Amino acid sequence: MAEEHQLKEVQKQGYDWDERYKVKDLPWDTGLVAPELSEYYAALAPQEKPAAVLEVGCGTGTNAVWMAQQGAKVNATEIAPTALEQAVARAASLQVKVDFHLLDICQKDPVEAGSQDFVFDRGVYHVIPQESRPLFAAKLHKALKPAGRWLCIAGSKDEARENPEVGPPQLSALELLSETEPFFELISLGRTYFVLPDGKKYLAWKALFQRRK
Ligand SMILES: C[S@@+](CC[C@H](N)C(=O)[O-])C[C@H]1O[C@@H](n2cnc3c(N)ncnc32)[C@H](O)[C@@H]1O
Repeated sequence: MAEEHQLKEVQKQGYDWDERYKVKDLPWDTGLVAPELSEYYAALAPQEKPAAVLEVGCGTGTNAVWMAQQGAKVNATEIAPTALEQAVARAASLQVKVDFHLLDICQKDPVEAGSQDFVFDRGVYHVIPQESRPLFAAKLHKALKPAGRWLCIAGSKDEARENPEVGPPQLSALELLSETEPFFELISLGRTYFVLPDGKKYLAWKALFQRRK
């Protein structure tokens, strides 16, 4: 109960994610496995597939459930209770085990320190207020095993938009890398797109990081 109260306080201070889920204003929610995630898995040899995975800001759970179906022990977090309810229902309906946690990833540890092989984040790092991004990166660093990896899909500033308020938040490569630098080495950085269910496309970063020791 105290945790729920704290979450409401956090949401009051910033963006109310739960309201977006309540009114179903979810342009990012494709209901499909992120192609960047399935491509990442496809490129791994069987013995390299991550055994323990953390998804931060899992939304309605499509990717968390998919990773569990690939054989991973999955922990998934959300700050929005309504999203988490839907993710729990999705996992239950498909009879897939995922450990879900309602928390603010910048404030709480969802898993034991040094326990995860891989963290997946689609569209979460870029929505974290700039002053909290070091906390976010530190939590991911803490969750991962040494040399554990983080795949981050985040909006790119290298796209001129008529209205920057419409579409995912945009980070420059410098912002993405300088803020994560103390905690992570960069393995690769490439371009991808958020392709929304209505067909709109937004340029994005596909960044693969490795935990610094
Ligand atoms: C753009 S949505 C992406 C959701 C999901 N990853 C997807 O691709 O469908 C961003 C998500 O991050 C969650 N979120 C925002 N801030 C968070 C925080 N501090 N801790 C955990 N989740 C957070 C929101 O509730 C929302 O579900």
